[in-house]
Amino acid sequence: MVFGGILAGGIGSRMNMADMPKQFLNLGDKPMVIHTLEKFLLCPKIDQIYIGVHPNWVVHMEDLVDKYIHIRKESVHIVSGGGDRNSTIMNIVDAVERDYGESEEHYIITHDSVRPFVTSRIINDNIDAVLSHNICDTVIAATDTIVVSEDGNMITDIPVRSKMYQGQTPQSFQVNLLKRLYQALGEEEKSVLTDACKIAVVQNEPVYLVKGEPSNLKITTVSDYKVAQAMVGGKVVD
Ligand code: CTP
Repeated sequence: MVFGGILAGGIGSRMNMADMPKQFLNLGDKPMVIHTLEKFLLCPKIDQIYIGVHPNWVVHMEDLVDKYIHIRKESVHIVSGGGDRNSTIMNIVDAVERDYGESEEHYIITHDSVRPFVTSRIINDNIDAVLSHNICDTVIAATDTIVVSEDGNMITDIPVRSKMYQGQTPQSFQVNLLKRLYQALGEEEKSVLTDACKIAVVQNEPVYLVKGEPSNLKITTVSDYKVAQAMVGGKVVD
């Protein structure tokens, strides 16, 4: 089976604009997380969708699904998120196995709730790639030159731009392989690995690249939110 895993367990501390995590703010006429969820619901190859939400916001998320979702409601499951992003993914994996058992043929398409402009093409390419390569990451070629600085004051390196990419999501995994890789990490490694694909990279497990889109932006700051509002034709709030 193919599962969607929408990550909505964060609190949006860098946004610091409203009294709720950014994924619940409206973009146009509905909350950001609903835009994201709809993209997954519209993909017929996704069998079931799990949303990992901060424990304090589970009831709110249930209310949003009731209010805004009118198709395939029975395929949407809400679970408590974890203390960091990867823990939220693993809570979703646990819920998938509780509900559908363990299988070498379970795949999960994990995606940030705060990337509401993901396209059907990107989701479908992730599904195709994970079925044939077991792990894939969505990226776009870097357009700016990437500058490395070890101390934040002086340049350490300027890597060749044609080899540089910016990571987006979805990031997709064969579920059993992700579990094995995550369980092989020590507690300290778990706490520093913020990116899910890095769990594979540090263990030399191949990760296939899927082409993303510049429009698949992540809403991290207030200025990202203003861009996103403009993209849906909504009123830009100062
Ligand atoms: N996320 C999650 N569980 C966590 C932390 C983050 O599911 N414990 C999710 C967020 O909800 C978001 C995505 O991971 O959809 C990307 O994370 P980020 O933009 O860093 O979100 P926040 O952690 O909410 O933001 P901040 O770092 O500013 O607090």
